Amino acid sequence: MTLKQTIRERRSISAYQDKEVSAALVEELLETAIWVPNHKLTEPWRFVFVQGEAKRNLAEINREVAMAKSNTDNKEDLQVISDNAFDKINRVPFLFFVINTLHTDAKLREEDYAASSCLIQNFSLLAWEEGLSTFWKTGKLATCAETAELIGLTENERVVGQIQVGYPAKSPTPTPRFAAKDRITVVE
Ligand SMILES: Cc1cc2nc3c(=O)[nH]c(=O)nc-3n(C[C@H](O)[C@H](O)[C@H](O)COP(=O)(O)O)c2cc1C
Repeated sequence: MTLKQTIRERRSISAYQDKEVSAALVEELLETAIWVPNHKLTEPWRFVFVQGEAKRNLAEINREVAMAKSNTDNKEDLQVISDNAFDKINRVPFLFFVINTLHTDAKLREEDYAASSCLIQNFSLLAWEEGLSTFWKTGKLATCAETAELIGLTENERVVGQIQVGYPAKSPTPTPRFAAKDRITVVE
């Protein structure tokens, strides 16, 4: 697989095979993924691997998030929403959080987020080469207070993403992108 192919073919996929993803492999991929450009070399990231009981607790938080969003009173529908929300997290083969220390300088805070985004993309490409798909999530579950407590987020930190990893069970068709050539302005 060439880098060009990996970049073009990588997809965010949330349907996974029932196959374990080893923490050692994720750790190994992260050792490479961290080699990103990083202004002032702040290396603002840390990672939280969510496993076992903690993953079930995160799934319970997702259940609560889904129930709070639901707009039905039908008991059966609510049960389905509740069970689906729990399973959606509990069945993810490997799940971790990318966390940033919040720099006191606003510009560096933004640049730290940019560098961490590069790291996540690196990780996703490396994972794809290993036959793994990733899904970067920043929704309510990733950012709510209950999750912050579960993963031990401190006051001067933020979640950059909840990263789901697994061997994909399907290969979705990509949404076409606008050509870069149509977004180029030449100034001379
Ligand atoms: C910063 C960031 C946050 C994202 N958060 C979410 C999210 O909360 N939920 C979600 O379904 N997808 C999320 N995504 C994934 C995008 O939806 C996905 O990359 C996009 O649909 C394109 O699909 P592809 O990655 O397969 O090309 C996020 C992507 C990025 C870069």
